[in-house]
Amino acid sequence: MTAATGERPKRKLTVPGVRARKGATPLVMVALYDFSMARLAEAAGIDIILVGDSLGMVVLGHASTVPVTLDDIVRHTQAVVRGAPNTHVVADMPYLTYHVDDGRTVENAGRLIQEGGADAVKLEGGRTVAHRIRVLTDAGIPVCGHVGLTPQSAGALGGYKVQGATEAGARQVLEDAAAVAEAGAYALVLEAIPAEVAALVTERVAVPTIGIGAGAACDGQVLVAHDLLGLEERFAPRFAKRYAELAGVMRGAFAAYAEEVRQGAFPAPEHTYPVDPEVVRAVVGTRAE
Ligand code: KIV
Repeated sequence: MTAATGERPKRKLTVPGVRARKGATPLVMVALYDFSMARLAEAAGIDIILVGDSLGMVVLGHASTVPVTLDDIVRHTQAVVRGAPNTHVVADMPYLTYHVDDGRTVENAGRLIQEGGADAVKLEGGRTVAHRIRVLTDAGIPVCGHVGLTPQSAGALGGYKVQGATEAGARQVLEDAAAVAEAGAYALVLEAIPAEVAALVTERVAVPTIGIGAGAACDGQVLVAHDLLGLEERFAPRFAKRYAELAGVMRGAFAAYAEEVRQGAFPAPEHTYPVDPEVVRAVVGTRAE
């Protein structure tokens, strides 16, 4: 119990706890990147926070996730873990941090766990990365897979396009998902695939699927916080439902602050610190040292 609120601290979902949600209460995952949002998400009862490499686009202003570095994700994972110490945190492995060789893959993932404080790592890809998923899980590092639209390969895929919408594409998604699950992933993100294909994957793999643009049959859902909060105005993906319109609220607050400063209305007396008038009298007329 916490002395202040009398509430029990939330219990962090473990890796077996995530696995046990297959076919049960849907998992709720949010991609976010900082301390204050992490606190709010934990207080709201979010099951899993993903420190996604979408950081590069929504926070750092890059045109893709490719420029995101391992140091970026380590730093933001640390902030998120400080804000949400009782929430399961998954850290994304950035572009080319799991492709070069097995040793570097383990070292890089190890930094996200050891320095970042993440509970697990996520990496993109299917059959081609299954071997690396096995190497990581053999090293005791829990891995969440990610198939369908894999933004780190958007260039090779010809853009941010729906995957698995043709017969060959659907078969590829099914094979990728099976390979990732067989390699030891404990959960699997399905991005931008038709709902029927996601339903088939969900039926066929033994681990929970977490969908983004993959329909309602998945074992959980993930959204980027900036999308669901209405903070990201440049892109409006079809699947990203907005639960708030914070961009307008924030713009209004910045404008009101600017106006009040310019008008001399802020700060008002209640925003200033009081001082004994005797102190002021004593220092008036004396020169600063
Ligand atoms: O980086 C990210 O936010 C992600 C989600 C879209 C799943 O990978």
